[in-house]
Amino acid sequence: MTSVSSDTVSLPLPAHWYADEKQARDERDLIFYKSWQVAGLAKDVREPQSMTTAKICAMPVVIARDASGELHAMLNVCPHRGTVIAQGSGPAKLLQCPNHAWVFGLDGKLKSAPRTEREDDYSCEGMNLKPAAVIEWGPLLLVNLDAGAEPPTAELATMQESVERYGFSFDELEPMPGRFEWEIECDWKILIENYLECYHCATVHKDFSQVIDVSPEHYALSSGGTLLTAQAPVRATSKLEQQQKILSTAGGPITDSHWHMLFPATTFNVYPGEGAIEITWFWPTGVSKSKACAIFFKMDGASDEYIEQLTEFGLQVMEEDNALCTLMQEGMASGAIASARPLPNSEALVVAFQRLVRRALA
Ligand code: FES
Ligand SMILES: [Fe+2]
Repeated sequence: MTSVSSDTVSLPLPAHWYADEKQARDERDLIFYKSWQVAGLAKDVREPQSMTTAKICAMPVVIARDASGELHAMLNVCPHRGTVIAQGSGPAKLLQCPNHAWVFGLDGKLKSAPRTEREDDYSCEGMNLKPAAVIEWGPLLLVNLDAGAEPPTAELATMQESVERYGFSFDELEPMPGRFEWEIECDWKILIENYLECYHCATVHKDFSQVIDVSPEHYALSSGGTLLTAQAPVRATSKLEQQQKILSTAGGPITDSHWHMLFPATTFNVYPGEGAIEITWFWPTGVSKSKACAIFFKMDGASDEYIEQLTEFGLQVMEEDNALCTLMQEGMASGAIASARPLPNSEALVVAFQRLVRRALA
């Protein structure tokens, strides 16, 4: 655990934190296991007596709606010998461990444990599935492994507002089919820090910068609680006419791009033009290794052509970022510098993010 005082909270993170085993374990336990994470789609547990499964980093979780309609989240690990219990999604009246057939209710309470009554010295007292916190947020399920955690209400409302200000209902957004998952050979903090600044956009994302106004005058940064946000309009003219056309208000009602990051690593992008939302969440899978998963939502009335061009454009930006992030990882892990030195204005959200990291580890 890292101690934090008001003097150290604003110091840049040490470079060795990006490639260290103990640091990675602390960040998983103290940051990812104690914050709100996307754990699937609300529609998968809309019906009473249904369940879905997910993983928060390495932790298997099961989310279930019981017969009375109450939603529960639990660690999906049998307290008997540690077997993962439920798989996939679907209707369920009970949860039964595939190993020795112990049965749990959809609230995680142990209902039967065969042959334990024949044991002289074995109590099943308290052998329930460990609870986690869960909420439905529009089309998504959010889980916090800290069962007593309060939802980040103000942060969620800010993200929701950046959709609803254009007349779309966040609650009614339908996910597009499929999820995109990818692995990146770098620490999760590198990916998030890269996401949080557009100082690199003019150098790295030349096409993107032609279309989105990334100038410091128009690329607005703000933060509140655990939410870090950038907002930028589409340029009035661009050499990339096709992209400029689809992303501008000529193509649809959304005037600005909104890039939100809910700490620690959930990003929420509202794309301009006809409109689409991308929700991507990142998590560490080991030392200097991360994974990401993305779900897209198309606004009512957005055309297939728009989505196709937007996805292509987004993919290009992602590839440019991933290549850059692996270079940053190599340098940060090399020992050549003691820490990065983000710019207080142009990289203000990186500074704010590093502060949140230090606070969470304190
Ligand atoms: S491990 Fe689950 S019932 Fe034995
Ligand atoms: Fe980038």
